[in-house]
Amino acid sequence: MFEFPKNFAWGAATSGPQSEGNFKKKHQNVFDYWYAKDPKAFYAGVGPDTASNFYNDYREDIPLMRQAGIKVLRTSIQWSRLIADFEKCSVDEEAVAFYNDMIDTLLENGITPYLNLCHFDMPVELQHKYGGFESKHVTDLFAGYAKRCFELFGDRVDHWFTFNEPKVILDGGYLYQFHYPLKVDGPLAVQVAYNLNLASAKAIAEFRKLYGNDGTKKIGTILNLTPAYAASESKADQAAAEFAELWANKMFLDPAVLGEFPSKLVEILEKDGVLWEATPEELALIKQETVDLLGINFYHPFRVKAPEISAKSLQDWMPDIYFDNYEMPGRVMNVDKGWEIYPEALYDIALNIRDNYHNIEWFVSENGMGVSREERFMDEHGMVCDDYRIEFLKEHLRALHRGITAGSNCHGYFVWTGIDCWSWQNAYRNRYGLIRDEIHTQTKTLKKSGYWFAKVSAQNGFE
Ligand code: BG6
Repeated sequence: MFEFPKNFAWGAATSGPQSEGNFKKKHQNVFDYWYAKDPKAFYAGVGPDTASNFYNDYREDIPLMRQAGIKVLRTSIQWSRLIADFEKCSVDEEAVAFYNDMIDTLLENGITPYLNLCHFDMPVELQHKYGGFESKHVTDLFAGYAKRCFELFGDRVDHWFTFNEPKVILDGGYLYQFHYPLKVDGPLAVQVAYNLNLASAKAIAEFRKLYGNDGTKKIGTILNLTPAYAASESKADQAAAEFAELWANKMFLDPAVLGEFPSKLVEILEKDGVLWEATPEELALIKQETVDLLGINFYHPFRVKAPEISAKSLQDWMPDIYFDNYEMPGRVMNVDKGWEIYPEALYDIALNIRDNYHNIEWFVSENGMGVSREERFMDEHGMVCDDYRIEFLKEHLRALHRGITAGSNCHGYFVWTGIDCWSWQNAYRNRYGLIRDEIHTQTKTLKKSGYWFAKVSAQNGFE
């Protein structure tokens, strides 16, 4: 039996823009806007307007999640729903009523809410007016919005998060064009990375003003960690992995937990003439406002090799001048999603946090398997028999269990996701849920993994 620590949090994660639908929102976020402009950019032309209809269905969805063993739900507030005037930070009362009732319904059903403040969903007005997180003014507006959230909902919510996967904001919006504003600009991505760290620190400062530091209420951030593994022992491959680790993981992990950017990364960016603009006051704030806990999203490792051409070549600055992706022969793949499956990396993460980040409290804030055309696996009663997902979750839980046994301070495991949800450009192509959503009728039913997870959560482990 793999038994987990007492009070281990068995949870699921989703986000506002991916579950609620944009009903009654007065503002658009960057995805609402992009979809309205270019629906063909989204898989099967499906946009964020209905998502999994959580805005209308939450009173039924929440008990269903409870039935699947979900004891904690991590979701996010939509900045573009809650705030009426972004500069004045006034609120939309209809949105306040929705979030209040959603939180109360969770609590009535015995589900603890964990609330995140930004899941890629920059209000498009702020993107167009200021460039979103390209601008330091927007980091102040974000802190103002965060403060409003704490004031409105902090009486019932003890766990808060500033961002989900800030690195994906760079990857999608500023490097590889899978999120609006679809820019390709390495140096700008560097500044956005810094500003995201700054915005997080400013929001944490607001939190501390209200709740201090006594640990009764906690604030963290959610990072997608992808441990970098070199293709070989060669010096060149090792150097590629070192940079990849700095860029992909430490650029957010170090300031969040240790309050400082890794000096090696700063040195490289400075030498290349692309280092962010920072002031001593801002760096002091980042130093002071570190997190209480970490959410770690884990899906896949980051395998790299030395780049084909030298970083010294005449070319525009992009982080990948220092590494190429390495496709390891014989790797196990989730072919639908295109991600390698390597649970051992979760053990490596657990030890890395234990040894290099003060063994800070953390939890797996997302882990899961996205599979397309799950109708393939339905039985005669219409239940998706997703044994592949159960196997995936078990493998990762076993690796995590080893990490916890070795002393890593992990308090929970959250599946991505409870109910199948809308996923950005991929829309509903890959399904991750413990609960199936028939998107044309919005009928929701437990998959085999939902019944399995309920048992694991009840027993606090599995055979
Ligand atoms: C995570 C994100 O990285 O991956 C989620 O936090 C996202 O928002 C999930 O939905 C799965 O992505 P995809 O594109 O496979 O549906």
